[in-house]
Amino acid sequence: MESNKKFYHIVTYGCQMNVHDSERIAGMLAELGYVSCDDMEGADIVVFNTCCIRENAENHAYGNIGMLKKLKAARRDMIIAVGGCMPQQIGKADILHKKFPYVDIIFGTHNLGKLKEFVLQKQSRKKAVIEIQPAEGAVTEGEHPLRTSYPNAWINITYGCNNFCSYCIVPYVRGRERSRRSENVIKEAQSLIGEGYRELTLLGQNVNSYANGTDDIRFPRLLEKIAAIDGKFRLRFMTSHPKDFSEELAKAIASDPKICRCVHLPVQSGSDRILRAMNRKYTSADYLKKIEILKKHVPYCAVTTDLIVGFPGETDEDFKDTLRLVKEVGFSSAFTFVYSKREGTVAANMPCQIPEEVSKERIMQLVELVNSLTREHSAKYVGTTCEILCEGYDEKRGLFLGRDEFGRMGYFNSDKNVIGEFVQLRVKEANGVSLMGELV
Ligand code: 5AD
Ligand code: SF4
Repeated sequence: MESNKKFYHIVTYGCQMNVHDSERIAGMLAELGYVSCDDMEGADIVVFNTCCIRENAENHAYGNIGMLKKLKAARRDMIIAVGGCMPQQIGKADILHKKFPYVDIIFGTHNLGKLKEFVLQKQSRKKAVIEIQPAEGAVTEGEHPLRTSYPNAWINITYGCNNFCSYCIVPYVRGRERSRRSENVIKEAQSLIGEGYRELTLLGQNVNSYANGTDDIRFPRLLEKIAAIDGKFRLRFMTSHPKDFSEELAKAIASDPKICRCVHLPVQSGSDRILRAMNRKYTSADYLKKIEILKKHVPYCAVTTDLIVGFPGETDEDFKDTLRLVKEVGFSSAFTFVYSKREGTVAANMPCQIPEEVSKERIMQLVELVNSLTREHSAKYVGTTCEILCEGYDEKRGLFLGRDEFGRMGYFNSDKNVIGEFVQLRVKEANGVSLMGELV
């Protein structure tokens, strides 16, 4: 190993959008000559790309930054940077600086693209670089993310969110919704397919409102245009807000087999009273109607969702409404969350915050139901053959793995490396969320 090499290590918290932001960060560090390494101990720069959507994500980051104190004392030339959603909250950068004075760089979401500058500044001075840009700027183009998930690639199409769901901090830390121009998105998709990526996922907090209020094409058309690019690949997107999920989108999904029949449509709750308090702008009946429209055009479509229990004022009856809706829709899988109070949001000041024991009991029931639905979906695969895009090799199990169009994970043996290839898997066994099979 060359001794003059400099190494970076990035710790990512939270959602897919953050995973892709970390790829942008990696791209900037690579331009400065840094090379990726697997642990903090060997790194010359450690970047914490934080999330603040729930309290436990924040606590996790606090714990890990705290643990670096010793390492930094032993290696004073090491640079520690903390960025993303957590410092973007009003007043949080100062709190972080006081709590962790050994952190060298603190930046937010709106100036993440300037990390390269901040590192150069820090290299030539002793004082910490603390820069938070209060408001979002224009959408930046021309970045070179260092992608780490081959054969999958993430493409941002919108940034920020205008929905202000009453529990959610995202609109405060990611700013107002803005969309990239479709020609830039399509160009990026073309070049990724040219480079051999086999699955593209379009990312946004609410992809359905892509380009609203502009003269650009709408989301369903964008999907169709990307799907029309030559080559064998899959196209996914997330996240869709039910209030903006349109029949045109359902038709677009049906229009091209490259667009995966798999929609992530967060419902959050099955109670109309709670949905109103959450400011979700739909009722459970509206949601079911959207599912009906989707299934009219795409009869075999996996629907996944996000669910929150313990929102302020949630009664047993409200929770039962959620269980009922989950059963009725028959989600193929779901992310389940206990409501986490976020300062600055409308829900943080609502009366009747739910005691932890009640939320715990509810989440256990909900997880059990969701798991049973997932098992049911998986069991239906046994004896069938499905197409899997091989994504990697699981060292522990000694098996290759990949997902089918509907997002089910399959494991299998192969004599040759098939990562990045589409393979046919005959499913022998289903265990919960994953499938076991053999190649045909
Ligand atoms: N508490 C719990 N879950 C939340 N989510 C967003 N904000 C909160 C919160 N304060 C969940 C929602 C959203 C997902 C990304 O995170 O379900 O869809
Ligand atoms: Fe948060 Fe609602 Fe926006 Fe999703 S749509 S990011 S839950 S405010």
